Amino acid sequence: MHRAVVLGTGSCLPERVLTNNDLEQMVKTSDEWITSRTGIRTRRIAGSDEQNYQLASRAAVMALESAGISGAELDLIIVATMTPHMIMPSCACFVQAEIGAEKAFAFDLNAACSGYLYGFDLADKYIASRPEMKILLIGSETLSARVNWEDRNTCILFGDGAGACVIGGSDERGILDSNLFSDGKLWKLLYMDSPASRNPDLLDPDRKGCFIQMSGRDVFKYAVRAMEDAVSGLLDRQQVSMDDVSLFIPHQANIRILGKLMERVGVAQEKVFINVDKYGNTSAASIPIALDEANRQGRLQKGDLILFCSFGGGFTWGSMLMHW
Ligand code: UT7
Repeated sequence: MHRAVVLGTGSCLPERVLTNNDLEQMVKTSDEWITSRTGIRTRRIAGSDEQNYQLASRAAVMALESAGISGAELDLIIVATMTPHMIMPSCACFVQAEIGAEKAFAFDLNAACSGYLYGFDLADKYIASRPEMKILLIGSETLSARVNWEDRNTCILFGDGAGACVIGGSDERGILDSNLFSDGKLWKLLYMDSPASRNPDLLDPDRKGCFIQMSGRDVFKYAVRAMEDAVSGLLDRQQVSMDDVSLFIPHQANIRILGKLMERVGVAQEKVFINVDKYGNTSAASIPIALDEANRQGRLQKGDLILFCSFGGGFTWGSMLMHW
């Protein structure tokens, strides 16, 4: 059977860097508090010519170059996002127009921070039935438009950015297995009411529903336990141990969540890709940005076993194993 394999990667981060010292001028916080509680030192903030679909398209162009194919050769574009430029059309349709992917069909997928793993899983199902397909899978977010910059509990955590992969079929390598979950009963612990990032005020003039709402401590607790279970369940099912894994790329939420997770699943820090210090939590974009950086740093060799995991609003969470 053919499985989804990554043919090329790309990413795009906004120019503007927002430091912890900058945040000290905006809310009652300190570099010391943010660094020690989250591990985040800087995050990127999108400017007016860095809308969600523009970041997504720039990441896509890089991924196409790295795969050595043109936009015209794509059959499908999926954008994982919870901060779409508009509600309709989808971000994926904007990207299609930007990159000239005329024969591709295109749609968005929202599974919050787990969107990229859900997208990988979906791409794998398409490849199983049509192995010749070329699929562009993007994770792209402009969370800065949906953060309450007066709320120190949340505004320090999030950042903007996009990452992309071109995916094809292989009967030798690719996605080995995925282990995905949701629990809608817990939605109130992490949510955002109103749609559309391009103009969040439009439907909600007092902006109350536009912002990310979070019970940080509860999210922390669930995230660690859920990701631990998703990872250990997947390793057991595939009869592989952490020693077989070459690189672990978790969703970049918070260094303390990652620290606890590493401890519980028994993985050495050298095997874990971490860039949350530079970009904060970029939700659906965090895994593809990390994957592109790992790829460009030469940390992925053909045949390596790569482990992913994520956790986000919904709740949604999961893990995935892939032969690079
Ligand atoms: O993809 C998943 C997305 N979500 C996450 O990753 C978030 C998961 N949660 C967390 O990472 C942590 O819960 C936070 C980093 C958000 C908060 O850390 P915490 O250790 O759980 O702090 P806390 O919420 O229990 O708050 C402790 C204190 C409070 O003050 P009092 O009530 O003890 O006086 C907060 O008001 O820290 C205060 N606080 C801050 N102080 C300085 C909260 N935010 C800040 C801040 N600067 N930015």
